[in-house]
Amino acid sequence: MKAALATAYGGPEVIRIAEVPTPTQKSNEVLIRIHASAVNAADWRLRRANPWFVRLVFGPFKPRNPILGVVFAGEVAAVGSAVSKYKQGDRLFGWTSVTRLGAHAEYIALPESGAFTPMPAGMAYTDAAAIPFGFGTAMNFLGKAGMIAGQRVLVYGASGAVGSAAVQLARQLGAEVTGVCSTRNVELVHSLGATQVLDYTKDDLSAHRNGFDVVFETVGKLPFMACVALVKDGGTLILGSDLPADMLKRAFSSKGGKQVKVIAGTVSGTAAHMQHFTSLWEKKLIRPVIDRTFPLERIREAHALAESWHKVGSVVITMP
Ligand SMILES: NC(=O)c1ccc[n+]([C@@H]2O[C@H](COP(=O)([O-])OP(=O)(O)OC[C@H]3O[C@@H](n4cnc5c(N)ncnc54)[C@H](OP(=O)(O)O)[C@@H]3O)[C@@H](O)[C@H]2O)c1
Repeated sequence: MKAALATAYGGPEVIRIAEVPTPTQKSNEVLIRIHASAVNAADWRLRRANPWFVRLVFGPFKPRNPILGVVFAGEVAAVGSAVSKYKQGDRLFGWTSVTRLGAHAEYIALPESGAFTPMPAGMAYTDAAAIPFGFGTAMNFLGKAGMIAGQRVLVYGASGAVGSAAVQLARQLGAEVTGVCSTRNVELVHSLGATQVLDYTKDDLSAHRNGFDVVFETVGKLPFMACVALVKDGGTLILGSDLPADMLKRAFSSKGGKQVKVIAGTVSGTAAHMQHFTSLWEKKLIRPVIDRTFPLERIREAHALAESWHKVGSVVITMP
């Protein structure tokens, strides 16, 4: 099968398309013919070994598993002898896992208990591939925050993969959502359900001090104390992009005399979340945002766009 391999850490140029053996499913696994995947923040961070501790988990000198890709949409090509949930021809979408990776290839074998679920009828593979990473991450963090209907939620980085999903999911949970993005994305963020959109290139965020029950900083671009200033006393700050060293620092950081619950950490998708997104999509309550779609052969361009910090929603790749 064809796969995109990153056999060294570095820029998009380390990726090459190669022929590799097609995996065979074990008894508890499904073999999936992948039709679409996405190049996400996790992929470019692993490829660049950014942050450095990526090397501790994925290999000190080069990636141990050179096929990146944590999300997929595809079709069951074969099932192992013990598989009962799925059959050949089922269309599935979801996560491989942040450690397993492997979705930037034509086939993958995954345990049937994995973080994926059947695709709804009528959903395109490209749309399905654009849902798991952003929506899965946003759902996890909003769940940890214990968000309830009627709360005021600010999503910073509202046009990215996580941010565009967070705006839609917070709205579905009954929040009054304020999105923050740059001028070119204001209309999009409104269309996703934000009642107020602030333009970080023009608007003064300090005018909204103590304005929000929950602040979800998705991109790690707003300084910690500026985030804290936006949260009401007793509110919650989600730092979706924080790294472990930052998290340790936060425990000892001043919160400006306020009680602010700070949430960070690593999250990943679950099958239950994918089922929830299926149901929301069927009711037309969420929609994936796709910046561009590239064929697998042009995956270097997809990586370059994904690490630009200015993609809108997801960057999708399609398999031959
Ligand atoms: N903790 C976890 O388990 C976990 C899981 C998933 C992702 N993450 C992390 O979450 C972060 C976001 O991922 P993502 O895929 O959503 O990123 P992304 O899609 O690449 O984010 C791009 C967006 O960021 C916006 N942006 C860039 N600079 C900004 C600024 N100064 N102020 C406000 N917005 C700005 C851009 O908007 P404009 O073009 O309008 O500027 C763009 O739409 C990454 O660091 C990723 O590693 C963490």
